[in-house]
Amino acid sequence: DRLWLVVPAAGQGRRMGADRPKQYLPLAGRTVLACTLERLYAALPEARLCLCLDPDDAHFDPAWVPFADWRRALGGAERVDSVIAALTAIAPDAADDDLVLVHDVARPCVTVDDLARLVATLADEPVGGLLAAPVADTMKRDDGAGRVAATESREGLWHALTPQGFRFGLLRRALREALSRGVSVTDEASAVEAAGQAPRLIVGRRDNLKITHPEDLALAELVLSAQRQAAQA
Ligand code: CTP
Ligand code: MG
Repeated sequence: DRLWLVVPAAGQGRRMGADRPKQYLPLAGRTVLACTLERLYAALPEARLCLCLDPDDAHFDPAWVPFADWRRALGGAERVDSVIAALTAIAPDAADDDLVLVHDVARPCVTVDDLARLVATLADEPVGGLLAAPVADTMKRDDGAGRVAATESREGLWHALTPQGFRFGLLRRALREALSRGVSVTDEASAVEAAGQAPRLIVGRRDNLKITHPEDLALAELVLSAQRQAAQA
């Protein structure tokens, strides 16, 4: 079976509030996008890549793509539209049981170890699954007016990370169906869940953060440098 990587990179980075989409901000002497693709390539050099880019993208440089086999898809209004466009772009060459990993371009700190473990685990999973981390903080629900209404149990709660990996045929059906039924799809797993399947949770590192707000860029710099030092030790 083939291994596909879909990297949605068509977002605008509104919460970051920078002068360009966050995937094009500098990180570790490169760009966020270049760092993310470098990690994916280090773990999965044989994978085929589909990168979703905004049709009006003015910053992308193909020199940042280390993969030999890659193509682009045009991003849509929401993340899910971008992922569906990518699945359409790979459809001519993808078999129903090919594994497709979807990874946010905004997560440059994913490790080679987590990627390798995810792929190894999913090889024996008919449905698929996702990297996830148990919730560590105490969870509060607000009353809509800035006060605590309740403390929620964090027992059994996880942060959904990426990559999330599913069989091509199942993922495409699930995403299309969720969209047409108006189900809110914030990640691939939620669409697969709405289709009645239970994705596998694969424990991932907590430092696989998604660069979302301005302060996250400095955190990602620290994580990458700590990971590099640990690898050299
Ligand atoms: N994404 C995409 N197409 C969209 C929206 C998002 O490909 N229409 C991608 C982003 O580029 C990112 C991932 O989906 O890699 C996760 O989205 P998010 O963190 O929300 O990024 P943005 O949408 O860019 O940020 P914001 O929501 O703050 O605008
Ligand atoms: Mg967004």
